[in-house]
Amino acid sequence: MSRFSVAIDGPAGAGKSTVARLVAKRLGITYVDTGAMYRAIAWRALQEKIDLSQEEQIAALAKSTQFTLEDEGIRVNGVWLKEEIRTSEVSQLASMIASMAAVRKVLVQKQQEIAANQGVVMDGRDIGTQVLPNANLKVFLTASIEERARRRYLEMNAKGIRVDREKLIEEIRQRDERDQNRQHAPLRQAPDAILVDTTHLTLNEVVEKILELCRTKVGKTE
Ligand code: DC
Repeated sequence: MSRFSVAIDGPAGAGKSTVARLVAKRLGITYVDTGAMYRAIAWRALQEKIDLSQEEQIAALAKSTQFTLEDEGIRVNGVWLKEEIRTSEVSQLASMIASMAAVRKVLVQKQQEIAANQGVVMDGRDIGTQVLPNANLKVFLTASIEERARRRYLEMNAKGIRVDREKLIEEIRQRDERDQNRQHAPLRQAPDAILVDTTHLTLNEVVEKILELCRTKVGKTE
């Protein structure tokens, strides 16, 4: 599995990162959370007080940022970023930054470099369509908006972050809308991606399903 690549795309809150992390662990390959990369740039732009109208400046910030991906999360210029990139403010900002072509160009290249020499499970919105068009397996993970909001609510509650359920549904709706309708690399299911609707599946069932799909692909690629 050393060069096996799995692309997992889908809307916000479909469970991509939890599933992708577990699948990577079971396959013994690297998990790459590309959403965290967009979030990290949003967070850095906030820190540096860069205005959102300054697309080139934000792209330059992305270019000069060093990402280290480890099992537990992402290190940005040597600093661990965890909860600070999961706030509502950073989520909304990341979604806006992700619609900027110049920023995407920089991050897509960094993601392709990461995947060039190792097996990866990479999750995001454009992995199967843009970042890893030749991935061994492409999965499009989805769930109903109510279920995605419910999961995000429980996740945030568990972390002690208070959120209003209705506001959460509205935020997810806005992000879906922006991710699906943006001009550059909108969220789309790749024609060769396999759709997995997780609304009525447990985490374990989703992981097992994807591992089973991997097994069918290994037979074809090795
Ligand atoms: O998956 P996430 O919620 O952590 O992603 C944060 C934002 O970044 C989200 O609005 C979608 C965007 N994104 C993207 O456009 N392309 C990716 N490959 C990953 C995330």
